Amino acid sequence: MNPLQRTAHVHEHAFSLSAKSAELDALGAWRSLERVQQPTWPDEDERAAVGARLRSAPPLVFAGEVDQLRSRIAAAARGEAFVLMGGDCAETFADSTADRVRNKIRTILQMSAVLTYGASMPVVKVGRMAGQFAKPRSGDTETRDGVTLPTYRGDAVNGYEFTEESRTPDPHRLWQMYTTSASTLNLLRAFTTGGFADLREVHAWNQGFISGPGYMRFERLATDIDKAVRFMAACGYDFDALRSVEFYAAHEALLLDYEEALSRIDSRTGEIYDCSGHFLWIGERTRQVDGAHVDFLSRVDNPIGVKLGPTTTVDDALRLIDRLDPDRTPGRLTFITRMGASRIRKVLPALVEGVRDSGAQVAWVTDPMHGNTITSSNGYKTRRFEDILDEVTGFFEVHRGLGTVPAGLHMELTGDDVTEVLGGTGEIDEVGLERRYETLVDPRLNHQQSLELAFLVAETLAGA
Ligand code: PEP
Ligand code: CO
Repeated sequence: MNPLQRTAHVHEHAFSLSAKSAELDALGAWRSLERVQQPTWPDEDERAAVGARLRSAPPLVFAGEVDQLRSRIAAAARGEAFVLMGGDCAETFADSTADRVRNKIRTILQMSAVLTYGASMPVVKVGRMAGQFAKPRSGDTETRDGVTLPTYRGDAVNGYEFTEESRTPDPHRLWQMYTTSASTLNLLRAFTTGGFADLREVHAWNQGFISGPGYMRFERLATDIDKAVRFMAACGYDFDALRSVEFYAAHEALLLDYEEALSRIDSRTGEIYDCSGHFLWIGERTRQVDGAHVDFLSRVDNPIGVKLGPTTTVDDALRLIDRLDPDRTPGRLTFITRMGASRIRKVLPALVEGVRDSGAQVAWVTDPMHGNTITSSNGYKTRRFEDILDEVTGFFEVHRGLGTVPAGLHMELTGDDVTEVLGGTGEIDEVGLERRYETLVDPRLNHQQSLELAFLVAETLAGA
């Protein structure tokens, strides 16, 4: 390159960089749009100061990983893999401990082993983890015994305790969301690459659990996997690939102050990524096509999801596709449907058909949790395990009927032995809910219920 060419090259580079930083500035366009579910921070200067600190902090995930997940989801949308997404409804700072995080990872690894082995299908493992700290709520305030306070919007915003001090939104919690996500991701990376996730440890994952049909079934499967692995090893295969697994982090991109502050330009490609997590989704309550959340996520390159409830029209879906995936990039857009067991067979077919007929290819994932929430007679927000199974079954039936691809499952689960969802072989009844109901927001499948569900899905996939 002669000096002149070099100068021209440098100028061009400088130009494209400034064009890119203009794009980064444009990420803030959501601020002038209709926005819902955002906290009212008491002090705007304080919020801006935390935002500036987050802007200069290292990214939590890296563009190369995000691109890889996009290609994995694209494979799932073609029917060549299956996405398994799961974790808490709301993570909390207090529960982001090594034990709790490990238990959740183990649950997802076990479900994934069941699916991979049972359905001979690669599983794309995604935790609702390391960032799931903010919640949309149906009301802005909550009243107890005549006292009205702001609702709990997740640990990223305010405290659960019902006092004025705790319920007042505090922007410093956004910083704590960042540091807690970082420590969770650190564990996640350690557990999934440091030997814990090695398929040869498949029996060890089951250790320490009380005997129950879910566990016994898993033990048998682990024995089969062991045999298969030993057979392959005897044939001379190299099993380094089994030592580590790919595991991605996902959360609802709800707090746009945070998501914007974690967005970065990738130095390799010049694309903009929201580096708070690999996969981000827009909730049922924030998917207004001209609203702030859709605008923001249209400007970042991550694979993204949109939750679709039973009132979604084909037109809504097509407009979301045009806004969020104008280039029809494989793996870019996932529709996570959450219709409810009683409605999925009625409402999903038209939606899937409308999208298919438009020529767009999205990954269809089912969330069998959020359309099936009820209140038990003793006052617990809960779900019936049979409704969850029924919605999953309905999801597969609809796709089989249309010849389209069921690409994955999105669940609320925990690795612990909680009692929040009714039923399952543990036969949790309404009184049983009182035993160990710990969630701050939505009820989660416990460890055994999660395994049971995985076996059902594996059978359905294998029969598909
Ligand atoms: C959630 O995933 O916890 C949630 C609030 O879901 P939805 O937006 O589908 O109601
Ligand atoms: Co939830």
